[in-house]
Amino acid sequence: MAKLGHDVVAVDVDPAKIEQLAAGEAPFFEPGLPEVLGEALASGRIRFTTEMADVAGSQVHFLAVGTPQGPTGAADLRYVDAAMAALTPYVSAGEFVVGKSTVPVGTAARLGADLSAAVPGATLVWNPEFLREGFAVQDTISPDRFVYGVPEGADGERAVATLDEVYATALADGTPRLVMDLPTAELVKISANAFLATKISFINAMAEIAEVVGADVTALADAIGHDARIGRKFLNAGLGFGGGCLPKDIRAFQARADELGVGESLAFLADVDATNLRRRAHVVELAEELLGGVLAGKRVAVLGLAFKPNSDDVRDSPALDIAARLHELGATVAAYDPEAVVTARRLHPELEYAETAEEALTGADLVLVLTEWDEFRRLDPGAVASLVASPVVVDGRNCLDRDAWRAAGFTHRGMGR
Ligand code: UDX
Repeated sequence: MAKLGHDVVAVDVDPAKIEQLAAGEAPFFEPGLPEVLGEALASGRIRFTTEMADVAGSQVHFLAVGTPQGPTGAADLRYVDAAMAALTPYVSAGEFVVGKSTVPVGTAARLGADLSAAVPGATLVWNPEFLREGFAVQDTISPDRFVYGVPEGADGERAVATLDEVYATALADGTPRLVMDLPTAELVKISANAFLATKISFINAMAEIAEVVGADVTALADAIGHDARIGRKFLNAGLGFGGGCLPKDIRAFQARADELGVGESLAFLADVDATNLRRRAHVVELAEELLGGVLAGKRVAVLGLAFKPNSDDVRDSPALDIAARLHELGATVAAYDPEAVVTARRLHPELEYAETAEEALTGADLVLVLTEWDEFRRLDPGAVASLVASPVVVDGRNCLDRDAWRAAGFTHRGMGR
């Protein structure tokens, strides 16, 4: 927002984060973020604070707190509710509260009614974001679409005009902007993620079939992907989806549909989830098989811990999950990730972490490539062969040059190939 020319007050309840940000340090790894942060601070248009009172007088109040998975699978709204409660006393008539968080459909109407009751003349709108980790800066500054969920009437019209000012730069570049009611905007976000998750589980289901009949799911994805109605994106079979969004969103969506009495409509999401989780179990079984049925005493090099490349996020990471399970089953796991060792160590201090891929690979009885970082794609299989105890590799993301690894003497096992 500061880069776009707006004056920004950024509030968080975590003083450590605020201190880091104020010092120009991004509290997590995200390509391009430190540069944007530096530019914004230098421009004097952004200020970081833990004092909610500092937001008073802002025309637009973005609400962008997390909605993690609660114990029943439903979204835990405590942070949304707490942020709204803390913010409301500092909102004035004529101002807008703009929800960004992924929430169960119906939340915006509830929050909007509460806001109007507390601050007559203030308006709540919902404006979901669709950013991908690893591309967060680019997706925020030039997204592929804007979705405005607004109430009916004059307040809604003013909200549209205000958001158009906020996003003037991208709108001038022709970014599509869709205006709709609040529940539709909430549903757009969660249904987009449910669709993406379904697409990934679809191709992973095909991988399971391919594994049984000796077919190649990568060739299959290329071929069906040429059909423009299907498209090749999000058809990469592998370990399935993880991260802070897709897994919890499909569960929260299902839980909300159950509450609304339309659980059957989303019953398929349980299969999407189950197919996704089977991929992790499959790799653990494959590792066991390749190690002759015994994991105890074996050294396994795990390359990749983040849920996807270009991120240090290990929330619900298939890679970290597999590493932890192999450790539990008695293997010595030597794990390496270009960015996610610090975050992984916090969740699984019991694993052995290496500072380089070479260190993890040295003496390994089995190599697992579990996150498709470029660094791993570029590994020289000949050099790797000279480090490991046994040349066996599981390519959990189908990201290695299979022929090159085989030519270097490796047994290479991909996913669905
Ligand atoms: C997702 C949505 O893409 C984004 O629009 C939304 O705003 C937030 O959630 P993100 O969680 O950053 O973004 O990751 P995404 O790129 O969607 O990948 C999610 C997971 O799916 C990763 O674990 C990735 O490895 C996996 N994936 C993705 C596959 O297994 N196969 C694919 O073909 C694509």
